[in-house]
Amino acid sequence: MLPTRSPSGTSEVLTAAGNGDQQAEIDALHKRCGVYTKPAVTRRILDAVGWKEDTDLSRSRLLEPAAGNGEFVIEAARRLVVSCLRRSVRVSIDTLSSRIKAFELHPGAAEEARAKVQAALRECGVHHRTATACAKAWIVNADFLLTAPARGGFTHVVGNPPYMRWSKVPDTLRAVYTDRLSSDMTGGDLFLPFLDRAMEQLCPDGRCGFLCSDRWRFMAFAEAFRRKWLPLLDVISEESLPADEAFVSDVNSYPTILIASKRPARTCEPNRSLARQGKTLEELGYIVKVGPALGHTPAFVLQPGEEDVEPELLQPWIDSSEIREGAVEWRGRRVVVMYGDDGKLIDLDGYPMLTARLKRFADKLEQRSIVRSGAVWYRTIDRIRARDWARPKLVVPELAKLPRLAIDHSGAIPSHGVYAIFAPDDNVEVLYEMLNDGKLAQALEGISPKVKGGYLRCYKRFLSAIRFP
Ligand SMILES: C[S@@+](CC[C@H](N)C(=O)[O-])C[C@H]1O[C@@H](n2cnc3c(N)ncnc32)[C@H](O)[C@@H]1O
Repeated sequence: MLPTRSPSGTSEVLTAAGNGDQQAEIDALHKRCGVYTKPAVTRRILDAVGWKEDTDLSRSRLLEPAAGNGEFVIEAARRLVVSCLRRSVRVSIDTLSSRIKAFELHPGAAEEARAKVQAALRECGVHHRTATACAKAWIVNADFLLTAPARGGFTHVVGNPPYMRWSKVPDTLRAVYTDRLSSDMTGGDLFLPFLDRAMEQLCPDGRCGFLCSDRWRFMAFAEAFRRKWLPLLDVISEESLPADEAFVSDVNSYPTILIASKRPARTCEPNRSLARQGKTLEELGYIVKVGPALGHTPAFVLQPGEEDVEPELLQPWIDSSEIREGAVEWRGRRVVVMYGDDGKLIDLDGYPMLTARLKRFADKLEQRSIVRSGAVWYRTIDRIRARDWARPKLVVPELAKLPRLAIDHSGAIPSHGVYAIFAPDDNVEVLYEMLNDGKLAQALEGISPKVKGGYLRCYKRFLSAIRFP
């Protein structure tokens, strides 16, 4: 039985009340994607979106689209109560019940979340009737993707949406989602319609914080998502972290913490230049990163013609001498990407060619201080992953008499003497137009001091402080 749409337009949802087959699908889905977030990460995300005890939360509203056993809601509830108590706002069902809304498809997980939230509220001194009623009101056992959006929207949205390739979503659910949801958001990965619907419900100026894959940034299946959302969001930060730091269970995934705010309607208008006026790159969500330090370049960088490493490990590599004003003139060198997308150092066992190459440099590699302090002998100093450099970027040499920059669309990995600037909406052309033809030097005036020989340093903190005129 597929869920039907009720006359009010509200979707009936797949819940525990469904038949045995549906329940089996929900169990299977939950088993695969019920990967819970560690408390330290939920705290970090709540801090980043501003759901904090020292803020007045008494009129804020928080959405958690896929609650699991409630880790985000527990901490959010605790902070909400402390925030109210500090401001002498009465803690009651009336004042609290509409502040938080969380969805969880799996009945057992929803029940567990309610019990934990109730216990957390009791620990904060909340009356047991209020605690029970709030936990019940806040955590609904329903399908977030099929439930009509709440009226009024949310000031904060946080969570770790389910991550699952579309083809792996159980059959009935997949059929329903394909039928009900926008075709722009289906077909790739389940986390995409979660981000889409959650962002839809975010108020202008509201903030969202997700622990999720960054595949939406570059995969073809997320193109329509990017087109829809990048112009409407200010991406505040995107930080990748090791899976074992993020999740309670041991999984092979590559999470990023995405923090963004929704632009107020007026700055979504076509003329965006006004919205940028006077703001720094950092304030506008541009991200500046220096190229990774390798710790013995000849071992990891292949000269043109060198073919002694498995090709799937290689990416174009550029240093400052290949950055001309306006263009990258790649000389054909490639760097070995020593880390997988999961952020883990690759295992040499699977790569005999690379092993043989690195062994030739073993003496030098083993003398490095990181290795003497216990690091694996063949690792690079910084973690290098291809995906971290895949998006369009501006590349800027760290040191130059006349600072220059170029756009790179090739996914090249820059040397440690080159900075890369990523735009929040991937539109690096706007910034390029602002800084090209010597204008970067003017923009750095008063920000970056000249060093010996009249050179200018383009450090991260200087580049981030450049302002749009
Ligand atoms: C990755 S876990 C995250 C749980 C929790 N947010 C955390 O961070 O610990 C995703 C949860 O989403 C639930 N889920 C999957 N599809 C759902 C849907 N359509 N609506 C609501 N919850 C769903 C799963 O059962 C699972 O518990």
